Amino acid sequence: MEENKIINGKEISNQILEEVKTETDVLRSSYNTIPGLAFIIVGENPASKVYVSSKAKACEKVGFYSVTESLPESTPESELLSLIDRFNNDDLIHGILVQLPLPKHIDEQKVIESIDYRKDVDGFHPQNIGRLVIGTDCFIPCTPYGITELLKRSSTETNGKNVVVLGRSNIVGKPIANLMVQKEFNSTVTICHSATKNLNEITSQADILIAAIGKAEFVKKDMIKEGCVIIDVGINRVKDETAKNGSRITGDVDYKDCFEKCSKITPVPGGVGPMTIAMLLKNTLKSAKNRLQ
Ligand SMILES: NC(=O)c1ccc[n+]([C@@H]2O[C@H](COP(=O)([O-])OP(=O)(O)OC[C@H]3O[C@@H](n4cnc5c(N)ncnc54)[C@H](OP(=O)(O)O)[C@@H]3O)[C@@H](O)[C@H]2O)c1
Repeated sequence: MEENKIINGKEISNQILEEVKTETDVLRSSYNTIPGLAFIIVGENPASKVYVSSKAKACEKVGFYSVTESLPESTPESELLSLIDRFNNDDLIHGILVQLPLPKHIDEQKVIESIDYRKDVDGFHPQNIGRLVIGTDCFIPCTPYGITELLKRSSTETNGKNVVVLGRSNIVGKPIANLMVQKEFNSTVTICHSATKNLNEITSQADILIAAIGKAEFVKKDMIKEGCVIIDVGINRVKDETAKNGSRITGDVDYKDCFEKCSKITPVPGGVGPMTIAMLLKNTLKSAKNRLQ
């Protein structure tokens, strides 16, 4: 296998965490400021618990202050909004992350919009999304932000390239498409979704294919162009009798099938996944620095 084809998200995210730690040390020693991140989790979703605890561990590693509030599934929306308000007004907190999904009785968009956009380190607040589209300073949602760092740090040319994004979610598809079309990346972007016709024809035109549809190993080699760069955002659990616990994690791209034909590819796990946490910390650091100005 050609190792240099693999865009190693674990390695790149570790570099970013080191950079964040170095800057955090300076903030502490020179400005008496410690970046602070508040996590709010509602309910008992096991995956959400794992995500929050790994984000909190990463905070500890880089020297951030963090606090986790775990609320029961039955928490009324008003109580969640009050807690957010408390963190909005807490000077020790620079970033607020409400782990999604929320229980059905809570209006997710209302919760997102209740976070002070200056502490919205997830980058989901309309103020940040709007600024992203316009191309002005904002908190970029962590997964798309991670994708742009993977492209930059793997020296992937984006200028004038055809980028095809599979998926139009608010957290991945739409923001990454809007980022790639900015002058900084200068790509020509096509967004595909479940109603897209002739999908294979479109994906076959992609110099860079970004797959975020949540369908295990959906992208096969007959859908891609020779020499393309593949960014696989998918995290899907599939049955695997040879694995210890009877399952394994796989992406939206059939990695083995596409490997020979593409020029670069992100693995799953170890590609986009670790970048998401690194960019969350980078956003929180940015928020702490913004406060000093
Ligand atoms: N690595 C990370 O840190 C990270 C972060 C976030 C998400 N993820 C993973 O990324 C994947 C996508 O997540 P998401 O939240 O963006 O997805 P999502 O909200 O489930 O949206 C999926 C998108 O894919 C489209 N789609 C579904 N089937 C399709 C098909 N056959 N052809 C074309 N388009 C299709 C859907 O189209 P419609 O809009 O028409 O329904 C939708 O826009 C998931 O596996 C998720 O676990 C990973």
